[in-house]
Amino acid sequence: MVRGREWWRTAVIYQIYPRSFADADGDGIGDLRGITSRLPALRELGVDAVWLSPFFRSPQRDAGYDVSDYTRVDPLFGTLKDFDRLIETAHELGLRVIVDMVPNHTSSDHRWFREALDSPPGSRQRERYIFRDGRGKDGDRRPNNWRSVFGGPMWDRVTGEDGRPEQWYLHIFDSSQPDLNWENPWVRERFKDILRFWLDRGVDGFRVDVAHGMIKQAGLPDYTPPKAGASMGGGRQRDPEPDDPPYWGQDGVHEIWREWHDVLAGYPGDRVLCAEAWVAPLTKMALWVRPDEMHQAFNFDYMFAGWDAREQRRVIDESIAAFGAVGAPPTWVLSNHDVIRHASRLALGADSPQGDGIGPRSKGKPDPVVGLRRARAATALMLALPGGAYLYQGEELGLPEAIELPDSARQDPTWFRTRGRKYGRDGCRVPIPWEADAPAFGFSPTGAAWLPQPAEWAALARDRQRGVPGSTLTMYQDALRLRRRERLGSGALEWLPAFARSTTVVAFRNRGITVVANLGRRPVSLPDGTVRLESAPTHLGANGRRMLPPDATAWIS
Ligand code: GLC
Repeated sequence: MVRGREWWRTAVIYQIYPRSFADADGDGIGDLRGITSRLPALRELGVDAVWLSPFFRSPQRDAGYDVSDYTRVDPLFGTLKDFDRLIETAHELGLRVIVDMVPNHTSSDHRWFREALDSPPGSRQRERYIFRDGRGKDGDRRPNNWRSVFGGPMWDRVTGEDGRPEQWYLHIFDSSQPDLNWENPWVRERFKDILRFWLDRGVDGFRVDVAHGMIKQAGLPDYTPPKAGASMGGGRQRDPEPDDPPYWGQDGVHEIWREWHDVLAGYPGDRVLCAEAWVAPLTKMALWVRPDEMHQAFNFDYMFAGWDAREQRRVIDESIAAFGAVGAPPTWVLSNHDVIRHASRLALGADSPQGDGIGPRSKGKPDPVVGLRRARAATALMLALPGGAYLYQGEELGLPEAIELPDSARQDPTWFRTRGRKYGRDGCRVPIPWEADAPAFGFSPTGAAWLPQPAEWAALARDRQRGVPGSTLTMYQDALRLRRRERLGSGALEWLPAFARSTTVVAFRNRGITVVANLGRRPVSLPDGTVRLESAPTHLGANGRRMLPPDATAWIS
């Protein structure tokens, strides 16, 4: 295989969050048949692939990121047959399909964990997870002081057969998500089987959950993060100080990715591994995408870059350099199911750490008009960059974060484990609107929706935007079409010298397209040429030149 030709190097991959995409059976939770029925809309949008968040058997304590059987479809979402039909339809439409793999932890309902609980300390069943005796005379103090990403301690204690408290087990996330012991070859072999199961069914690759967490520092030493509670890891926007906890980014993880790389390489077609690795700086993250490891990694530094010209240029430069140094394509992403949607995030007054969320009582709520303008401008900038990009369902409609969700509707474990101190991620997970006048805006035939949809989303429904000049949907479609036609994904970025030090404008050339983004407060005059795409209407200035308003991006050729 010639490195450089692979489809994923330039692909735009659309994230489907199955429970909120389309519900065929009417129970208010999206499902696989719903997804299949709506795939033509994604083909029309112009993306290359879809990534499905987990639909495997799960008690759904963390919306499916708590898997109790990796080779079964959860009945909530359908059957394996439904999955086969989905992948067949996607491939017919020319869309590749990537599925989410969650190897750091299983659900506490997984048979392996049940067996571990039923087996004595020191047994091989316990060796599949991270069980430890407690500290102190009676072992009643936790083995170390680590704090869960979702809040509260990272350890829970189990009860022995005699009803007496016994060993503790580690869970980076919820107590229903025990961490697997990846030092154990048995665990490694089981996951290779799981990968092969899905590769045999035709998946084009995997998005790998928490790909920076699977190996913990030997001896599990105490660690006190700079802020209370663990974050997902590095990233300068979220952590005031460098954050290098003993459970993130340990060298041992790389051996796992080399093994996984080899499993995928044994299959025809370009199958891909994409890392969810919250590590900083970018040069460290690039270790995940060395030629014999994973193929792509989400660029969270880019996601959290502020709406500031210098910062945008810095993160773009650093990304291209860091990924390029290891021969991997840069990737770009603005939203996903864990963060505040960028149509809200980009207008937030305060910093918004991943997972904290915003809700009715938050301070500094974003202005929706400013948020949407910036989101459109940011997307138009992103889709002109060389490399791969990830979109999150609903962003093509300009959906904002659902802020006013009632407390009683919230379901994210973060909300419960912090006793409501953090709103969590439900606000970006609300079922998306398809048709303005249909029940649940076309999400579900019965009108049911597992999280309530804001009434104002009627105006953002896909059918209201389809074919409408100037709509967000049309802008995404036009950008994706032009990006493909002009082969921007495989191009190279060159900053426009006139704006290279600008504090308000980001401007570059990629192949035949000149891109100008105005992040300032005053209109800027555009270079000569025809406007091919605009995130907000440009106008003729008094000086006779075409002007780009604030918070807007234009493509010119
Ligand atoms: C990843 C997922 C997130 C999940 C967590 C635990 O960060 O994106 O949704 O809660 O892992 O699996």
